[in-house]
Amino acid sequence: MLYVQQGTQRKARSAGVTKLLAVAPMMACTDTHCRTLHRLFSPNALLFTEMVTAGAVVYGRRERLLRFQPAEAPVACQLGGSEPGLLGEAAHLAASAGFAEINLNVGCPSPRVRQGAFGAALMAEPRRVANCVAAMAAAVKVPITVKCRLGLAGRDSDAHLDEFIAAVSEAGCRTVYVHARIAVLDGLNPAQNRSIPPLQPERVHALKGRFPKLCIIANGGIDTLAAATAHLACVDGVMIGRAAWREPRFLNRLDLMMFGAQPVSEHDALDAYLGHMRSQLAEGERLADLVRPILGLFKGQPGARRYRRLLSCPKALRSDRLAVVLDAIDQVGFRGEATRSPPLGTVENSRAA
Ligand SMILES: Cc1cc2nc3c(=O)[nH]c(=O)nc-3n(C[C@H](O)[C@H](O)[C@H](O)COP(=O)(O)O)c2cc1C
Repeated sequence: MLYVQQGTQRKARSAGVTKLLAVAPMMACTDTHCRTLHRLFSPNALLFTEMVTAGAVVYGRRERLLRFQPAEAPVACQLGGSEPGLLGEAAHLAASAGFAEINLNVGCPSPRVRQGAFGAALMAEPRRVANCVAAMAAAVKVPITVKCRLGLAGRDSDAHLDEFIAAVSEAGCRTVYVHARIAVLDGLNPAQNRSIPPLQPERVHALKGRFPKLCIIANGGIDTLAAATAHLACVDGVMIGRAAWREPRFLNRLDLMMFGAQPVSEHDALDAYLGHMRSQLAEGERLADLVRPILGLFKGQPGARRYRRLLSCPKALRSDRLAVVLDAIDQVGFRGEATRSPPLGTVENSRAA
């Protein structure tokens, strides 16, 4: 079955079944470069920024924090915070920067985030989150959404979850991304909180049954087409995190299954991404940042380890020369048709000499 994309392409709703494919916000991963790569594999996914705090958007290096390339669109900007006024202001700035959706992080279990009284700890404060959502919704025209967990250790019943969901929905949130685990704020670090509390997908499905009018998107451990299909039969979409980072081509397979996208090979995507690298290097971006999303591109294929090693050499990366990447992919034979033909000198960027 093909699904019609929704979320930011809302006109498509009238066409029939509507399901959403989203790539999860991931700190130190889903930056503008990673999103550019993901968009090459998936024309239909809604991509997320990393979480940015409302304070940083309002008072910090806003241009850098909110930047994205037009080719990445549609992109949802995820904000962290718990102060309605500040979140409203940050939402307004993000919407003005062109983001298609503003998302509030109520799922991050990091101690640093907790000190700032936001992230997953807010699941214990439905009223406060509702006030934040209301302030954000009043400040912008684009959708305000929430990403949360199933609950917090010690506060993880369906009754608690329903109280939270009812509060944010009454405040104007129509879409909730649910990481199908509880968060354990005492005793587990963020990485452990992404694997130790067991996945409970059936609770996300049941939530949809109790809130049929809300758009419920399942997240957590979706790394096969079969797992995505099982969710799509019960909820309104799937959000993919680590599987998209580890194996970006998985997004292409999902997009193909859900929306009939064209198949895109790693080689095709890399060829296109080289153009992005070239223009970004010319604008002063660091090669190390540009290379990070493509390190795992060929995972499992012969030569992948060597490719990764060549592209992880700090000295080579500090040169900020595209030739480092071209040499690596030539050495392991990963270059696709489009960039195989022109001689090296013509595809080298201007800073490489
Ligand atoms: C490196 C990393 C960084 C993350 N950063 C964020 C973040 O900034 N905001 C957020 O809501 N979730 C964050 N997450 C959680 C993911 O969005 C997602 O909910 C989680 O990884 C479960 O989905 P998955 O099993 O598909 O990876 C992060 C996860 C990882 C692995």
